Amino acid sequence: MGGLSMDQSFVQAPEHRPNPTVTEATGIPLIDLSPLTSGDAAAVDALAAEVGAASREWGFFLVVGHGVPAETVARAAEAQRAFFALPAERKAAVRRREAAPLGYYESEHTKNVRDWKEVFDLVAREPPPPAAAAGGEVVFENKWPEDLPGFREALEGYMETLEELALKQLELLGRSLDLRPGRLRGFFREPTTFFRLNHYPPCPSPELALGVGRHKDPGALTILYQDDVLRRSDGEWARVKFVPGSFVINVGDTMQVWSNDRYESAEHRVSVNRDRARFSMPYFFNPATDAVVEPLEELVGDEDPPRYSAYSWGDFFRTKLSGNYKKLDVENLQI
Ligand code: SIN
Ligand code: FE2
Repeated sequence: MGGLSMDQSFVQAPEHRPNPTVTEATGIPLIDLSPLTSGDAAAVDALAAEVGAASREWGFFLVVGHGVPAETVARAAEAQRAFFALPAERKAAVRRREAAPLGYYESEHTKNVRDWKEVFDLVAREPPPPAAAAGGEVVFENKWPEDLPGFREALEGYMETLEELALKQLELLGRSLDLRPGRLRGFFREPTTFFRLNHYPPCPSPELALGVGRHKDPGALTILYQDDVLRRSDGEWARVKFVPGSFVINVGDTMQVWSNDRYESAEHRVSVNRDRARFSMPYFFNPATDAVVEPLEELVGDEDPPRYSAYSWGDFFRTKLSGNYKKLDVENLQI
C-alpha cells in the first residue's frame, strides 16, 4: 500500500483487537431469493417472513438466487483489482478532496484508529452540483481513473444491477413489517447510494490492527460482496461464513429507526490477514436527501411509542461525508 507501514496509528486498544481463534457464526441465515421470480404470492410471503426473522434476530443474512449475473460481479471485481494494482501516483490522481470527497484514499479512521485498507468511493447517482459549489459546498462527483479500460462501465453496470436487488430487498422488508407495497420505496426516489471498493493489503500485525474498526452502517441496507467480515453476536465476535456467489446483507441504522427497533443494525468489523489481501465491495443503499428518518407511523402506537426522534437523512449524510474527510474527533466516522 504505497509504502504504508504498521505504525501506532493502526494499533487497536487491547479490548478491540481481533481474536485469532474466533469461530464462524453458525446461525446467520442463508436465504434463497429465487421465489421472487416465481410469482407465487405464498412463496414470497414466506420469503418476506424469513428476511424479517433474519433482520430481527441477526441484522445480517446471506442471499443466493439473487439474480445478479456472475459476470457482472466478476467484471466489477476485476476492475477493482486493476485499480488497486495501479502505481500510487495514478491512484493519487483520483484522490478525494475536501470539497469533492469521492475517489481514492488510504487514511480512513474508524473510532479514531486508522483502518488497514485503501478505498475507492463512488456514488451510484451523481446529484447535480450545488449552485454554491464554489462557496464550500460538497460536490458528489465520481472521479474516474484515466486509461483503465472498462473500469467505469464495469462499476456502473454493477451499481445498476445492485439497485434492482436493493429495491427487491426493500420490498421484502416492507412486506415483512406489514407495510403497504411501495411504502419504503417512497424514501428512495433519488437515492444517495454510496459504493465502495475496499482493498485490505496483507498486514504484518493482523493481531493488532483491523481493516475496519467496529461500527454500524448508517443507511438502510448494505449489500456486500465479501469473503470474511466479522460481526458481533451476543457480545462475542463471530466470523460470517463465506458462500461463493452470495451477498451478505445487513440492516443499517435507518432501517432500525424506521422499524422502531424491530430490526437491528448490527455492529461489525473487518479483520486482516498476514499473507493475503482481501477485497470487498459494499453497496450502501441510502435514502434520498429529503427523506426523514423516524419510526414509521404504522409501527408505533400506545403500546409501542417511537424510540427515536426524526432526523433528516440529507443533513446527516452531508455532515458525515465532510466530517469524514476532516477526520474530526467524532464517535463513528465510518460510512
Ligand atoms: C464495511 O463494513 O464497511 C466493510 C465491510 C467489508 O469490507 O467486508
Ligand atoms: Fe460496515
